Amino acid sequence: MAEVVIVPDAATGGALVADEIVRLIAGRPDVVLGLATGSSPLPVYRSLVERLAGRDVSRVRAFALDEYVGLAPDDPQSYRSVIRREVVEPLGLDPERVGVPDGSLTGIEHAGEAYEAELEASGGVDLQLLGIGSDGHIGFNEPGSSFASRTRVKTLTRLTREDNARFFASIDDVPVHCITQGLGTILRARHLVLLAFGEGKAAAVAGAVEGPLTASLPGSAIQLHPHATVVVDEAAASALRFADYYRETWAHKPAWQGL
Ligand code: F6R
Repeated sequence: MAEVVIVPDAATGGALVADEIVRLIAGRPDVVLGLATGSSPLPVYRSLVERLAGRDVSRVRAFALDEYVGLAPDDPQSYRSVIRREVVEPLGLDPERVGVPDGSLTGIEHAGEAYEAELEASGGVDLQLLGIGSDGHIGFNEPGSSFASRTRVKTLTRLTREDNARFFASIDDVPVHCITQGLGTILRARHLVLLAFGEGKAAAVAGAVEGPLTASLPGSAIQLHPHATVVVDEAAASALRFADYYRETWAHKPAWQGL
């Protein structure tokens, strides 16, 4: 099962994950990172800015999880723009080495396959950051997504569009379709790190970590992964049955194991 780390706040969680990423880059300058958008990974990116200052990150590769379909690439809400603004520019990554699925309408029918080929050619993701939607999605794999799915076009649920309407003028401006790495794609990454903060995520986190393995809660796919870490604050951990056990495990974790 996933290792659950309960932290006092999002900033502490961000620092913990950022330390692990710095350690990876130090060991392998051409590490491949899997990036998520949305609010949950922001504390990681913020912590990385100071930790990576002055270090050589020119060989780091990165791949985003997902993209809206039909937004212009330079639309400020396209994930290509968000990743550039929140990750590539602040961390000084080489934009040529950062992939985002192509959500343009032209050629969309082949964009999933093309992205899978890019991921494959990179040698695969070493550490994949994940958030979780209130309906349990990871990437944009909405309920019902196959555990074997690959990068493809999906329809966003009404709930996800409502959750993400905060970034748009109105819900009608939130695209209906997205292109997302599949659950099967995500499971190929060597280490999954799922971050969730706040009470709104408590039910989804409990379902993902302790619920039955079910396509109805796509985040439960992390239970199939041999190395999955879930970093949550107390509020997001509040529905976990075995929270005390996770605290105990973390307190006694041997230092040599790393995250
Ligand atoms: C974003 C993504 C989504 C988000 C999820 C949670 O690339 O893949 O799964 O991680 O919707 O979003 P936040 O973090 O904004 O609550």
